[in-house]
Amino acid sequence: MHQDDRHLLSSSFGAAAAAYAEHRPDYAQTAVRWALEHAPGPRVLDLGAGTGKLTATLLALGAEVIAVEPDPAMLAELRRTLPAVRALPGSAEAIPLADASVDAVLAGNAMHWFDMDVAGPEMARVLAPAGVLAGLWNVMDDQVDWVAGLASVSGSAAIGPRDTPVSWRAETADMHRPKSGAAAQFRTPEQGEFPHGQRRTADSLVATLATRAGMLVMPAQEQQAAQRRIRAYLADRPETASGEFTLPMRTCVLRVRRPKPSSTAPPDEQTRAETSFGRVPSGTPIV
Ligand SMILES: C[S@@+](CC[C@H](N)C(=O)[O-])C[C@H]1O[C@@H](n2cnc3c(N)ncnc32)[C@H](O)[C@@H]1O
Repeated sequence: MHQDDRHLLSSSFGAAAAAYAEHRPDYAQTAVRWALEHAPGPRVLDLGAGTGKLTATLLALGAEVIAVEPDPAMLAELRRTLPAVRALPGSAEAIPLADASVDAVLAGNAMHWFDMDVAGPEMARVLAPAGVLAGLWNVMDDQVDWVAGLASVSGSAAIGPRDTPVSWRAETADMHRPKSGAAAQFRTPEQGEFPHGQRRTADSLVATLATRAGMLVMPAQEQQAAQRRIRAYLADRPETASGEFTLPMRTCVLRVRRPKPSSTAPPDEQTRAETSFGRVPSGTPIV
């Protein structure tokens, strides 16, 4: 993707901050617990926190959360809905926190916007030794027939790169690495998927899709045409035609760890601390 397009897309969310807060899903708690399984303590930075969807899930799990978000409108919405959370302006490339001040950095549907050449060292700086970095993505489950159909009627506006379990896995496997080929700050990448869902109506699903970057930057006419196609499709499908339905989703996680500087143990053995966020689900993730 060209740098200008990337910037346009990554900064498109603020224009729809209130709709974003109303319609976007939270994250599966099982996924967030798994992301934090090896965190050496309870301090979590939610980076690219947006309106606070992941922040709220983290709070529910008892984490001590600090939220950082570059977009003023998204940050204002987060501060309005979660007034007790310490929420700061900043970005992955310039994090307004002290060295080694958090045990985990989590990014919900945001890590793909980070410039990892700059953000990698910056996230490593704020992490305590053996701290954890995890990217989480809510993806629509296109193994389900009607969801796959939705993709074909709406095009990339609704389901695009990283938005299905298959594309997500390939596209995020190396996301923690600098694109320049510089040394990675993290190791032991692992990926996991956790079932999730969101109660929707046709109206609220259309509204949710309208908060996606692909849709936000479309010319109004194209946007309306895509929304008409989606509505017609949902009205036609038995699963979605009458009232409320559950949108089948998965919360997908890429987790990596910061090595302990002096450790000689193999990476997998370095951070077996008990998680403070509850029991990690057995049998999951789907790998
Ligand atoms: C799809 S939204 C996700 C928001 C929130 N984490 C959630 O789960 O709902 C992506 C967020 O990443 C933020 N973002 C974009 N570029 C960023 C960067 N370089 N550093 C930190 N956040 C960034 C955007 O402003 C936006 O709020």
